[in-house]
Amino acid sequence: VPDQVRTNAPVAAPAAAPSGASSDASGESSAPQGNHNPWWANAVVYQIYPRSFQDTNGDGCGDLPGITSRLDYLADLGVDVLWLSPVYKSPQDDNGYDISDYQDIDPMFGTLSDMDRLLAEAHQRGLKVVMDLVVNHTSDEHAWFQASRDPQDPHADWYWWRPAKEGHEPGTPGAEPNSWGSYFGGSAWEYDPQRGEYYFHQFSKKQPDLNWENPRMRQAVYAMMNWWLDRGIDGFRMDVITLISKHVDADGELPGVGRSTMSAGPVGPEGYSNPGPLCQDGPRLDEFLQEMHREVFDGRHGYMTVGEAPGISPVRDEFITNPANHELDMLFLFEHTDIDHGPESKWDVVPWKLTDLKKTLGRHQRAVAQAGWASLFFDNHDQPRSVSRWGDTSTDRLRVLSAKALALLMHMHRGTPYIYQGEELGMTNAGFTRLDQYRDLESINLYHQRVDQAGVVSGERMLAGLAAMSRDNSRTPMQWDDGKYAGFTAEYAPREPWIPVNPNKDQINAASQVRDPDSVFSFYQRLIELRHSDVLVSAGEWDLLDPEDEQVYAFTRSLPAEQAAGIKEAEGHKLLVVVNASSRPAKVPAQTRALLGGHAGADQILLSTYKEEETTASLLIGKLSPW
Ligand code: GLC
Repeated sequence: VPDQVRTNAPVAAPAAAPSGASSDASGESSAPQGNHNPWWANAVVYQIYPRSFQDTNGDGCGDLPGITSRLDYLADLGVDVLWLSPVYKSPQDDNGYDISDYQDIDPMFGTLSDMDRLLAEAHQRGLKVVMDLVVNHTSDEHAWFQASRDPQDPHADWYWWRPAKEGHEPGTPGAEPNSWGSYFGGSAWEYDPQRGEYYFHQFSKKQPDLNWENPRMRQAVYAMMNWWLDRGIDGFRMDVITLISKHVDADGELPGVGRSTMSAGPVGPEGYSNPGPLCQDGPRLDEFLQEMHREVFDGRHGYMTVGEAPGISPVRDEFITNPANHELDMLFLFEHTDIDHGPESKWDVVPWKLTDLKKTLGRHQRAVAQAGWASLFFDNHDQPRSVSRWGDTSTDRLRVLSAKALALLMHMHRGTPYIYQGEELGMTNAGFTRLDQYRDLESINLYHQRVDQAGVVSGERMLAGLAAMSRDNSRTPMQWDDGKYAGFTAEYAPREPWIPVNPNKDQINAASQVRDPDSVFSFYQRLIELRHSDVLVSAGEWDLLDPEDEQVYAFTRSLPAEQAAGIKEAEGHKLLVVVNASSRPAKVPAQTRALLGGHAGADQILLSTYKEEETTASLLIGKLSPW
């Protein structure tokens, strides 16, 4: 890319707005579609899993003062937004995704004043803070749920309570209202002897689903959201937000329940049917999200929203994130995280193909090309580590190279990139080999369900599945240094870390990477800087090259003439991204090669995972070394 395209500080923000929206210098948009806060289109988000980030009080769990103490590290990395996984009061059945008080901090993490301090200190460094919003369900210990156990209480209908199946003794096997299974094992229905009825929970039995059909419940959620925004937070990541509207029949009944005319779906080998198809992207989802927008976000500025979106197709994503529809700014789609396992279960790992990654990411890119906006991620607290999953950890060299190549591949797409803690160091999977090393209730429950109860797989095979896919892979303590507990907690702390530290802390840690120009960390710094300084990287159109090639992932980014018109540096320029996403040398494929033409030497190289001479030489001869 000719070199004058690169610096655009004054024009980057306007051009970065999604769907061609334009902003004035203050970052406020004058977009025709009414998109009022496009700053996030040019931002890089960093996800913190507070439990595993930094412990300061020696209890073996990370805490808010720990996050505050590491803000300089995050500012140095260069990210713009911190998303905190839940720190609210919680019995911690699902590590805080089971909230018992939305307006308080769990003592394990600190206090509300610790939160205020974190906000103030982050804001001082120009970092925004986004909280996790978990409102598909609460904890069963939340006051709303406790009240709803009394059928006379005004909260009686805030959850999905249903009587036992007709002709069955309540609380006995087979008396559950329908055949739905929970994502965390067992039936999705739990009997409460106090109320004499069952409640529905898609996740653990300590995470009852809220009944979004109830308008008073919804108003209570909006009031809580407003309370947090008024306190100074900068937005929300919304947990499984696309599950809040359930498909019900004309009488408001759930599938398979009572005299409902809808079936709950086929029963699988483990004895349950999957609630997914009838609980994802339900008929009132848009209405609820629009109502939330009106009640919470209208009239506010400078915030961002991102929804976790199981079951949402790229086409629906385009609708939900189109600013004209006043729903959410971005969604996390999961299609690309499904290409390495069988359709029935994520534990049955299969080899993945680069062309499938191109197809799934490409569908998303194309769907939001005109309206809406994408979020870009490989890692989060529910996914195994990307470098173990999509990269190559067989040698230190390949691990470092593949961590960089994967970062480049993802962050150069059009959308807002998300980095999960430790990803910027190339942290790997946990390497657990025994069930007792796991802490995650999903991993443990499903091991027992599949191996001991249903007997659908052997223990050995399930352990292999967990080693590859368990959520605990990404939840081991952040590797700050090579100390006994990797600097996550003090060496002589009264309690050990809540989950084992990865022994590779000696090779992979922040202390050794921050000052090393060849480290994964330094590469991320340059990548983030590039995103901030190059208009094409944040806003340009995305066009895939060589879709059938199984080794090289290549695409171009360019601004269409009407968008580039106001930005003279961008006119007629193209940015080319070429990644050998394999562990073998690769030939640069035809379409990519043609674009390079004779200019490989003349074009400007903005960023490379290889040494500079090697990059130019590789492009000239059309051969790329691994990763
Ligand atoms: C989301 C969260 C996950 C949690 C689940 C239930 O998928 O990311 O960690 O277990 O929702 O809240």
